[in-house]
Amino acid sequence: MNDAQGSPQTVVVFGGTSEIAGALLRRLAARRARTVVLAGRDAARLEAAAAELRAAGVTLVETLPFEAADTAGHQALVDGVFDRHRDIDLALIAFGELGDQAALEADPEAAAGLARVNYVAAVSVGLAVAARMRAQGHGNLVALSSVAAERPRRSNFVYGSTKAGMDAFFRGLGDSLRGSGARVVVVRPGFVHTRMTAGLPPAPFATTPDAVAAGIVRALETGAATVWVPSILKWVMTVLRHLPGPVFRKLGER
Ligand SMILES: NC(=O)c1ccc[n+]([C@@H]2O[C@H](COP(=O)([O-])OP(=O)(O)OC[C@H]3O[C@@H](n4cnc5c(N)ncnc54)[C@H](OP(=O)(O)O)[C@@H]3O)[C@@H](O)[C@H]2O)c1
Repeated sequence: MNDAQGSPQTVVVFGGTSEIAGALLRRLAARRARTVVLAGRDAARLEAAAAELRAAGVTLVETLPFEAADTAGHQALVDGVFDRHRDIDLALIAFGELGDQAALEADPEAAAGLARVNYVAAVSVGLAVAARMRAQGHGNLVALSSVAAERPRRSNFVYGSTKAGMDAFFRGLGDSLRGSGARVVVVRPGFVHTRMTAGLPPAPFATTPDAVAAGIVRALETGAATVWVPSILKWVMTVLRHLPGPVFRKLGER
């Protein structure tokens, strides 16, 4: 259960090596999170993240192999985590791939693979986690969506469409959990300086993993269902969503 201050004590991250996840976990460790499960596919990077958390005072850190594309294994993986730790306060869906738009357009199989990780796997893990949170009667399921979900751009519409799908899925899942005690938080960061965006020119309002982490912690405190980081992007995207196609495309070329 969350502690007396409402801060999560037991946390599981799918995509445990994500830099945004790392920033959130540092904040939660400082608020006395006691148990963290890191599920990911790179054992060495997972172990490095686990060592950092132990040094920050987290009592129990477990690392688990997790391949997002292997949806057949998700239910058992999620059930194992909930069975072993009994009570999960926060689950973070942090895995995702950006891909290269031109390469994806030229290779439908690769594009399908990206959709399988970003959308299909998010559906599979999301449903497995939601069932257990519904049963335990509490918990926050936090999903890292993106501003790219809001309106597809020519320059990254394969990635954007996968995020639009997962964003819609988690909003609906949040509605389905109403009254259960569990809830969903959909996070829509803009450009964040992480491994995923390394070497790319920063977009306007580019931000940091720690700013995203701060936005998530605020949402846990306030009960917000949607988080934009930085928050101004909510208003920027409200305008962009309604721009006529030719104007939107012109802006996208800049
Ligand atoms: N950075 C941004 O500008 C930005 C903006 C909006 C939303 N987001 C979203 O935020 C989330 C975290 O991204 P980040 O910025 O923290 O980037 P990151 O550090 O590159 O994290 C991406 C995570 O996804 C994992 N992953 C990728 N493919 C996987 C697969 N097939 N199976 C299991 N794990 C897989 C990576 O694992 P490995 O360590 O094994 O590669 C890594 O843990 C992503 O969903 C991303 O779409 C990012």
